[in-house]
Amino acid sequence: MKTAFIFACVAVLTVVGVCQAGDLRKNFYRISCPAAEGTVKNITERHVASNPNLPAKLLRMHFHDCFVRGCDASVLINSTANSTAEKDAIPNLSLAGFDVIDEIKTELENKCAGKVSCADILALATRDAVSVQFKKPMWKVLTGRRDGKVSVASEALANIPSPFLNFSSLVQSFKNKGLTLHDLIVLSGAHTIGDGHCNLFSNRLYNFTGKGDQDPSLNSTYAAFLKTKCQSLSDTTTTVEMDPGSSQNFDSSYFVILKQQKGLFQSDAALLTDKQSNKIVGELLKSTDFLKEFSQSMKRMGAIGVLTGNSGEIRKKCGVINS
Ligand code: HEM
Ligand SMILES: *[C@@H]1O[C@H](CO)[C@@H](O)[C@H](O)[C@H]1NC(C)=O
Ligand SMILES: *[C@@H]1O[C@H](CO)[C@@H](O)[C@H](O)[C@H]1NC(C)=O
Ligand SMILES: *[C@@H]1O[C@H](CO)[C@@H](O)[C@H](O)[C@H]1NC(C)=O
Ligand SMILES: *[C@@H]1O[C@H](CO)[C@@H](O)[C@H](O)[C@H]1NC(C)=O
Ligand SMILES: *[C@@H]1O[C@H](CO)[C@@H](O)[C@H](O)[C@H]1NC(C)=O
Ligand SMILES: *[C@@H]1O[C@H](CO)[C@@H](O)[C@H](O)[C@H]1NC(C)=O
Ligand SMILES: *[C@@H]1O[C@H](CO)[C@@H](O)[C@H](O)[C@H]1NC(C)=O
Repeated sequence: MKTAFIFACVAVLTVVGVCQAGDLRKNFYRISCPAAEGTVKNITERHVASNPNLPAKLLRMHFHDCFVRGCDASVLINSTANSTAEKDAIPNLSLAGFDVIDEIKTELENKCAGKVSCADILALATRDAVSVQFKKPMWKVLTGRRDGKVSVASEALANIPSPFLNFSSLVQSFKNKGLTLHDLIVLSGAHTIGDGHCNLFSNRLYNFTGKGDQDPSLNSTYAAFLKTKCQSLSDTTTTVEMDPGSSQNFDSSYFVILKQQKGLFQSDAALLTDKQSNKIVGELLKSTDFLKEFSQSMKRMGAIGVLTGNSGEIRKKCGVINS
C-alpha cells in the first residue's frame, strides 16, 4: 500500500510535476490557478522595490500567523464589534504589510475566484519578499493551506513568544509548535532584518533588576549607543535596527553581533545562556550555512497546524471570514 502510494506519487510527479509532502504540496495551484505563484511574486517584488522594510514586515507577520492556530491567515482577520482579533493584540507592535496581501488577494480573486488561500499568499509573499535581494527563491514554499475562521487576541498573547523570555521558556514556546531548539536559533536569525521598539528592551538599559541598573549581558559600548536612541523607559515610539548597519540585508550578521553581546532583546541574548545553543549560534556565523538552515526551518514553520483538504475555507477577502 505504502509502496503503491510512493509509486503513484513518483508517477504523478513525473507526469504533472506535483507531489504531496505531508498535507501540503509543491505547486498546489498548478491546475486551479496557474498564475497564482507568479502573481504573488510580481506584486510582492513591485512593493519591495518601493518599500525596503516589507521583507521584515511580512516575515514577522508569517511567524505570528503560524504560531497562533497554525499558518491559517488568522493574523489577517480584522476585529469586529464582538471580537478583538490577533491583529489588535499586544504583541502586534509594527505588524504591517496587510495592504500588500490584500492587493494580491484582489488580483487573484479576479484571475481565479475562490481558489487561492490567504494563508498561502502570506507564505509565498514572505518568501518572495525576502528573496528579492538574492534574485532567486531562498526556500521552497509548499502550498494547499486553507484559511481559518477564528482570530482571537488572547491567543496571540498566549502563543507569540515575548522578548522578555528566558532560554527555557523560548525552547518551550517553539516546542509547543513542534519546532526544535535548532529551529529556535535558526529562525531567531530573522532578526537580521527589521527594527525593534525601545520599550521592548529599554529595561536592559535603565532598570534591569529594579535598581536603576543595566543588563550585564548587554555589550556596554552598544548599551551606551542604544541610550542615545532610547532616552527613557517610557519611550514607546522610537525604533532601532535589530542588526545595526545591516538591518535591510538578510545575512548571518545577527549571529555575529549576537556573539558580541549585541542582541537587542533579552530573548536574543538568551540564546547565549545555554551551552548547546551557544554552540549552534557559532555554527551559523557564515551566511551560506545560515541561509541553508533557514530555508529548512522556514519550511517547518510554514507547516505548523495547517488546515488542508476540506478544513477551513478559502477566504474571499483576507480581512474577513466568509459569511
Ligand atoms: C524567538 C522568539 C522571538 C521573539 C521573542 C521575537 C520578538 C520580536 C520583537 C519584540 C520584535 C520587535 C517588534 C517591534 O518592536 O516592532 C521582533 C521583530 C521581528 N521579528 Fe521576531 N521574535 C521572535 C522570533 C521571530 C521569528 C521566528 C521570526 C521569523 C521567522 C521573526 C521575525 C521578526 C522580524 C522580521 C522582525 C522585524 C519586524 C519589523 O521590522 O517590523 N521573529 N521580534
Ligand atoms: C510577472 O511579470 C513578468 C514580467 O513582467 C510577466 O512576464 C509575467 O507574465 C507576470 N506573471 C504573472 C502571473 O502576472
Ligand atoms: C455581536 O453579538 C451580538 C449579540 O451576541 C449579535 O447580535 C451580533 O449579530 C454580533 N455582531 C457581529 C458583527 O458578529
Ligand atoms: C495593534 O492593536 C491596537 C489595539 O490594541 C490597534 O489600535 C493598532 O492599530 C494595532 N496595530 C497594528 C499594526 O495593527
Ligand atoms: C525562565 O522563566 C520561567 C517563567 O518565567 C521561570 O519559571 C523559570 O524559572 C526561568 N528559568 C530560568 C533558568 O531562569
Ligand atoms: C525601576 O524599577 C523599580 C522596581 O520595579 C521601580 O521601583 C523604579 O521606579 C524603577 N525606576 C524607574 C526609573 O522606572
Ligand atoms: C562590544 O562591542 C565592542 C564595539 O563594537 C566590541 O569591540 C567588543 O568586542 C564587544 N564586546 C564583547 C564582549 O563582545
Ligand atoms: C480591515 O481593516 C483595515 C483597516 O484597519 C481596512 O483597510 C481593510 O479594508 C479591512 N479589511 C476588510 C476586508 O474589511
